[in-house]
Amino acid sequence: MINNEKLFISNEDNFYLKQLSKIDVTQNYINWLNDYEVVKYTEQRHLKHSYDSVCQFVEQKLFSKENYLFGIYYDKKHIGNVKLGPISFSNKKSEISYIIGEKKYWGKGLATQTINFLSQIAKDKLNIVKLLAGTYDCNLASINVLKKNGFKLEGRITKSVYFEKKQIDNLVFGKVLID
Ligand SMILES: CC(C)(COP(=O)(O)OP(=O)(O)OC[C@H]1O[C@@H](n2cnc3c(N)ncnc32)[C@H](O)[C@@H]1OP(=O)(O)O)[C@@H](O)C(=O)NCCC(=O)NCCS
Repeated sequence: MINNEKLFISNEDNFYLKQLSKIDVTQNYINWLNDYEVVKYTEQRHLKHSYDSVCQFVEQKLFSKENYLFGIYYDKKHIGNVKLGPISFSNKKSEISYIIGEKKYWGKGLATQTINFLSQIAKDKLNIVKLLAGTYDCNLASINVLKKNGFKLEGRITKSVYFEKKQIDNLVFGKVLID
């Protein structure tokens, strides 16, 4: 079980995860989701986000038993999100997805550390054996985050994404947490 406390990745930088609820939905958070540069490699790029749509998403995840949506907090700011889910408890597996919305925090190793930490939580607190993550084949930063965390390329879904006037591949990465 995971409760609503802060899950510290590092005390030093006030770097932690916390499950999101409606009170965490700020204009800043909504702005990341409407910033093409931030969401261009995600399916969020097709949507226009508003206070109501983001609140609805956050609450749906908060009350879902198969999903944990965490805010990534760093230096006293909400800088991104990471989702563990949907989880299949019967198969002991889960998908993950992540976004660092505050662009000035890109390239500092924060997503890499976040995924490392989330993998431990998935294993230790939820007994999850297998994690899966999807990424467009041109999202080099995301591919690096996964490889640095020991994820292996398990599948290539060819020509499955229409991106910037081209039909591109989606990659599926996986990691076994418990042998
Ligand atoms: C993808 C994303 C999560 C990476 O987060 P991050 O905190 O900047 O990543 P890290 O700093 O942990 O970087 C991991 C590695 O990727 C490399 N990297 C970062 N940005 C890169 C880029 N644009 N191109 C190539 N490599 C890059 C880093 O150098 C690092 O490798 P290194 O330690 O060997 O130098 C972040 O850019 C982001 O949120 N992007 C928008 C949303 C998104 O694409 N989410 C993922 C959808 S699958």
